[in-house]
Amino acid sequence: MALIEVDHVTKQYVKVAKIGVVKKKRTLFTAVDDISFAIEAGEKVGIVGLNGSGKSTLIKMMLGILRADDGTLATFSGDPTKYRQRNAQRIGIVFGQRSQLRWDLPVYDTFLLNKEIYRISKEDFLARVEHLTSLLDAKDFLQQPVRTLSLGQRMKAEVMASLLHDPELIILDEPTIGLDVVTKNKIVKLLQQVEGKTLLYTSHDLEDVEKICSRILILDHGKLLTDISAQALAKIATPSQIEFSLVDSANLPAALADVGVQTLPNGNFRVAGLSSKEVQDFMRRLIATTELASVTIANKRLEYVISSGLTTGGGQ
Ligand SMILES: Nc1ncnc2c1ncn2[C@@H]1O[C@H](COP(=O)(O)OP(=O)(O)OP(=O)(O)O)[C@@H](O)[C@H]1O
Ligand SMILES: [Mg+2]
Repeated sequence: MALIEVDHVTKQYVKVAKIGVVKKKRTLFTAVDDISFAIEAGEKVGIVGLNGSGKSTLIKMMLGILRADDGTLATFSGDPTKYRQRNAQRIGIVFGQRSQLRWDLPVYDTFLLNKEIYRISKEDFLARVEHLTSLLDAKDFLQQPVRTLSLGQRMKAEVMASLLHDPELIILDEPTIGLDVVTKNKIVKLLQQVEGKTLLYTSHDLEDVEKICSRILILDHGKLLTDISAQALAKIATPSQIEFSLVDSANLPAALADVGVQTLPNGNFRVAGLSSKEVQDFMRRLIATTELASVTIANKRLEYVISSGLTTGGGQ
């Protein structure tokens, strides 16, 4: 039996809209719409979707915090709403937007509390704290009250707290939201190193998820758009855009004007919708004809995959 089974699950919320001064109208809004999938022990799965696509709602149902309106869920082979307490011992959770730490206590005191709650032996506790502290470069703030931490420090502490009891199932709901690149990379690197555990990671940042997860579920407006291996997803060619500025020219050389380069309000130039071959050709010509001050090449892969309506899974 799979570690997590989600079978035709639907969740609706009541939305209240004000009409007139006093009158309110209640409507049902479907946040998770007839979703089915199973996750085997040891898989690293990313749940990706734009804001409001239903990721957190789905996670909360797997944890038993919310009850599905339709369909069935099983986490560790049981109804998560029934076995929430029992399952907590086996799950480590990070909610990017909500702290699990004791606000007024130093970080280390919360760790000590977790040591008691999860009955972690002294040796294991010390070894894990030391290991995680060095991986996340966290030793400077462990004695600080949680309320005084910066966002990045708090997220490192949240990740450490979630892993101290060595859970079988690690669930991270947007753990890197709002973090700078250096802090984010430390957390991503740590999660890449996790082995022999089941990991669920939600994000609207496909790039982060692809660094960690080998299987990716893409949600769109509450529906499971695709369930695809990271390898198959990587093969989907996505149009890129190049944004650049020139050292000493506000005008674009005529030789580059043929691919629809736009001038932006800040004076930079942008060309969009290029295939990888077109990116290479354009970059070659750009470097040969001008002196670049800056250049970025980017693509909005998640938006592209969603808008292209990709529905076929790519295997696992
Ligand atoms: N308690 C609630 N009552 C009413 N609507 C809710 C409630 N919780 C979530 N929603 C709505 O359900 C939809 C899905 O929300 P959810 O938080 O699951 O999305 P998400 O994919 O996690 O988004 P984000 O990337 O912004 O975290 C949203 O439209 C949200 O407004
Ligand atoms: Mg969310």
